[in-house]
Amino acid sequence: MTEVLERPYVVASAAQSLDGYLDDCADARLVLSGETDLDRVDDVRAGCDAILVGAHTLRRDDPRLLVRSAERRQARVAAGRPPNPAKVVLTRSGDLDPGAAFFTAGPADRLVYAAGGSAPELRARLGSAATVVDADDLGDGPPDGVDLSAVLADLHRRGVRRLLVEGGRRVLTAFLTAGLVDELHLVVAPFFVGDPDAPRLVGPGEFPHGPGNRMRLAEVRRVGDVVLARYLLAAADDFWLRRAIELSRACPPTGSAYAVGAVVVDDTGHELASGYSRETGPREHAEEVALSRIDPADPRLASATMYSSLEPCSARASHPVPCADLIIRAGIRRVVLAWREPALFVDCHGVERLRDADVEVVERPELAPLAREVNAHLFD
Ligand SMILES: NC(=O)c1ccc[n+]([C@@H]2O[C@H](COP(=O)([O-])OP(=O)(O)OC[C@H]3O[C@@H](n4cnc5c(N)ncnc54)[C@H](OP(=O)(O)O)[C@@H]3O)[C@@H](O)[C@H]2O)c1
Ligand SMILES: [Zn+2]
Repeated sequence: MTEVLERPYVVASAAQSLDGYLDDCADARLVLSGETDLDRVDDVRAGCDAILVGAHTLRRDDPRLLVRSAERRQARVAAGRPPNPAKVVLTRSGDLDPGAAFFTAGPADRLVYAAGGSAPELRARLGSAATVVDADDLGDGPPDGVDLSAVLADLHRRGVRRLLVEGGRRVLTAFLTAGLVDELHLVVAPFFVGDPDAPRLVGPGEFPHGPGNRMRLAEVRRVGDVVLARYLLAAADDFWLRRAIELSRACPPTGSAYAVGAVVVDDTGHELASGYSRETGPREHAEEVALSRIDPADPRLASATMYSSLEPCSARASHPVPCADLIIRAGIRRVVLAWREPALFVDCHGVERLRDADVEVVERPELAPLAREVNAHLFD
């Protein structure tokens, strides 16, 4: 079976000056955003299971990485979650001060991913203040540090489903160039830094989103005197489509229909509903099951994406309304699919039908083999 990387949904968040700097070179911490924006970030933090930073950000800024609002902490606890997300730091040098706010502030789980042989010494020095994960045990990482995919897989095993990456420059660069960011929240402050020695948002690198592959702009918001831009990256499509394919594995087997999984996701990376074929009835299709679980008046449908492991059907024997029409009627404007339906049972024109109705259809054929594999028995 093909290996599927199980990882959390990753939101990267940063604030920069108009000329693209994360900080200046002065000793004091540079204030980029204001109170209103800090409150917005607090809300984003409260919605995550863990917050990750690079060791240099700890050394330079000494952030607490806690949820500040008591109401938000209470809401988390009421939902059966810890009051604060777990705090996560990456290091290679092991140069971390046990007196840093990361280790001393607030009740929170603390995880240190230590590469390059720094784990044993850190474990001894930090004691019970944090769980030190020896990144060298997580598999073959690059020689210069922690393998980020391995870190994400490990966080997923520890129950982290939504991760907030808060910088700094090297960590943002590494996550972005590895294609491991699903959503980017970028705040632009209304001033210039103008110091070439200050850290920029990212360093040089090969980014999956170059000029030929623009990110999707999900939102622009004025927050006090700063601007928040929220981008959705290609990694998010991959993330949700893999989830749809995973769901298809749960379909009750039959030789007369495909096993399909479907997930409807809003434009903040939250799942509205999911389903798989025959989940709630012998003839039901995955998209139909997922849509039946959403209130047709839900305003999030207009900016939601339907992820389906197989092309939505355009004609079906068992039901008067094919899934392509159900999607159009639901007001969903974007569909991402892995596998075009082969002409095995019916001749499917789902993609054309959706496009004719001005629904954006994105095909990810590189994931088609994974979706087909679940249906291998139909082709024996
Ligand atoms: N404006 C914002 O939104 C914002 C947010 C955060 C930070 N910042 C600023 O960003 C600057 C810090 O950025 P930075 O690039 O210097 O540092 P950074 O990204 O915070 O941390 C880099 C360090 O993290 C560790 N690290 C990173 N990737 C690793 C990997 N794959 N494996 C193992 N360790 C890894 C290494 O720690 P060791 O050195 O210990 O080996 C590395 O030196 C500061 O000026 C801070 O104020 C700004
Ligand atoms: Zn269908």
